[in-house]
Amino acid sequence: MSRNLKELIREMTLEEKAGLCSGADFWNTMGIERLGIPSAMMTDGPHGLRKQEGAADHLGLNKSVNAVCFPAACATASSFDVELMERMGQILGDECQAENVSMLLGPAVNIKRSPLCGRNFEYMSEDPYLTGKMASAYIRGVQSKGIGTSMKHFAVNNQETDRMQISSEVSERAFREIYLPAFEEAVKKAQPKTVMCSYNKINGVFSSENKKLLTDILRDEWGFEGYVVSDWGAVNDRVKGLKAGLDLEMPGSEGYNTRKIIRAVENGELEEEILDRTVERILKVVFSYADNRKAETVFDREKDHKAAADIETECAVLLENKGALPLRKEQKIVYIGEFAKKPRYQGGGSSHINTDSVVSALETAVRKGRAVEYVKGFSSERDEMTEEELKQACEAAAGADAVVIFAGLPDSFESEGYDRTSMELPKCQNRLIEVVAEIQKNVVVVLHNGSPVETPWAESVNAILEMYLGGEGIGEASDRLLFGEANPGGRLAETFPYRLEDNPSYLNFPGDGRTVLYGEDIFVGYRYYDAKKVPVRWAFGHGLSYTEFSYSNMKLSSVEMKDGDVLRVSIDVENTGKMAGSEVVQLYVSDKDSTVPRAVKELKGFAKVFLNPGEKKTVTMELCARDFAYYETKIHDWYTPSGTYEIQIGHASDDIRETAKLSFTTDVSLPFTVDMTTTMGELMSHPKTAGKMMEYLEGISQGEESKKEEGEVELVTPEIIAQMPLKSFLSVIPGEAIEQMIVELNSLCAEEGK
Ligand code: BGC
Repeated sequence: MSRNLKELIREMTLEEKAGLCSGADFWNTMGIERLGIPSAMMTDGPHGLRKQEGAADHLGLNKSVNAVCFPAACATASSFDVELMERMGQILGDECQAENVSMLLGPAVNIKRSPLCGRNFEYMSEDPYLTGKMASAYIRGVQSKGIGTSMKHFAVNNQETDRMQISSEVSERAFREIYLPAFEEAVKKAQPKTVMCSYNKINGVFSSENKKLLTDILRDEWGFEGYVVSDWGAVNDRVKGLKAGLDLEMPGSEGYNTRKIIRAVENGELEEEILDRTVERILKVVFSYADNRKAETVFDREKDHKAAADIETECAVLLENKGALPLRKEQKIVYIGEFAKKPRYQGGGSSHINTDSVVSALETAVRKGRAVEYVKGFSSERDEMTEEELKQACEAAAGADAVVIFAGLPDSFESEGYDRTSMELPKCQNRLIEVVAEIQKNVVVVLHNGSPVETPWAESVNAILEMYLGGEGIGEASDRLLFGEANPGGRLAETFPYRLEDNPSYLNFPGDGRTVLYGEDIFVGYRYYDAKKVPVRWAFGHGLSYTEFSYSNMKLSSVEMKDGDVLRVSIDVENTGKMAGSEVVQLYVSDKDSTVPRAVKELKGFAKVFLNPGEKKTVTMELCARDFAYYETKIHDWYTPSGTYEIQIGHASDDIRETAKLSFTTDVSLPFTVDMTTTMGELMSHPKTAGKMMEYLEGISQGEESKKEEGEVELVTPEIIAQMPLKSFLSVIPGEAIEQMIVELNSLCAEEGK
């Protein structure tokens, strides 16, 4: 329906306009009956509906309506499957329509900087490219049903400790290359209806009043068209926030901040136009839901439960397998660990879904008539196991053909609101796994966790299946994968280091209460482990299958490229094993001539392909200049230097199968100004000054040669000269001559072209 919002805003009083900028309560925007402005409800998100009726809170303390719990983002991101993510978004969108929820508070796209972040289960990856693609798919899916999304938490919110006041101290490059691109990609490609600003400060400025973030970057640079909502309680100075680009305060502040806005307009501190613009942005989204309302939509719990189990089946990652998997029906199998009966399937906090339909692996085995014996072993709720429980587990294991140990992190180990302090599993679980592995050669460990754990027993067991926090269908998915009814197709969206201490943020996490220094800079996750050659337990992109894939025939549409070109990269992938399955073809780019610190390689493309045994498919991916670029702070923009780049395609970041080189040429030249502090090295390597410098140097060295005595050793090597700034020659070259040289060099630099 077309509506003249500007006209409508003209009819609103100042009080009504200011009031609309804060929530009516915890979950609803303010409605204005006399003007036909409806109130709109929003709920968490991201992997299900947490619709609270009656008493509301954002910590998940009060019950919400019964809903379907889908796999959390730690799992869905591991699918590397954008279509799957979009499909899940569509289902969630339909559920929102059925429950009259106008907006789902997700996706959560913060980068997994440390494995300790309590909320990593809700986040997608350590890699911004993967996160951006998966987030866009989720947004497209939900929004295709007329429902809004709220991409969160914008930005640089990578820990729970002190999240309400900490300042994330991050360099411009890391900000642009690691922490912003997922938001950027999703805004540009999927236009979420809203973006939720984070609680924390970035380099000293609260996100909720950060004009650079909320206006200059989000709207002016990326073209964001929706409204910005505060994380719940993230508003600091309301008027400052409005001016910076924060539109809606959530939840409401019982009129406190509304009164501040009114006063600020009345005393001239805030231009009314700014308020009008904010109101227009909010109304646009509110009406877009009203206009796309489909009240007749049915929430089919059974169908959606099945979808949740199907999705999880595509997400799980087979980390190890020496042959114990898949299990065979005729084997005598023992399930150990209470997670077999009570799986951990979601994390704690605002994303907590109230479901009564969780199906465990044990229940599934019983339903399917599998001859599986169960012994508890350890508790799923705490680090607790009696000697008797261990004894029973060992006895059962000794007489079995295969043992499946259902391990994981208890609820209290990871949650929104606090970070983990270690990467260890409960000690009793490590002990049980180690003891059982001594008496049984076919030990399979199934993991339930939201972020990496240390697995000191990894080499003594036969197989490890990472289920993550897989939603209410987790048990059915585990069963299918364990017994080979489905083939694992998930890949790690994050590195599993051997030890917590190996993680690049280790010395700078979680900061001192006021600031947290992002000292590892752009070297987050595999970008660090690769560069430092730190061995890891399982690399980014790793994941096994019950079949095998071979790669051949890599082709580039050209071996030369320049700004504005699109390069097509294709490769053939074949299923050479005996079972149908999916492969995730991963494409990484590596700068071979880099003059600035860069990652050894970066993910810049991926595709998931399903292949029957013997089937071969050609996968094609496209690359543009930005895929080879780094963020150049001299121009505050992306920059792809001329030089050689390698494109690497493979099964995982540590399993590259084919490579091809490419030469890139750019016309963009970086600004270069010569002064007394410019070094000889800079002058000799810059294309505009190198030639002239050679001339000067030849002149100087001719004079110097004649003065040199025979046999005299050269003390000043070219390396030393390269480090010397022009001012260091004042004792040997007249200052006026150097000044003249600077003038000449700067005029060369100012010339157009190379
Ligand atoms: C969380 C958000 C959530 C909001 C509403 C906040 O504490 O950080 O992710 O959407 O509460 O529950």
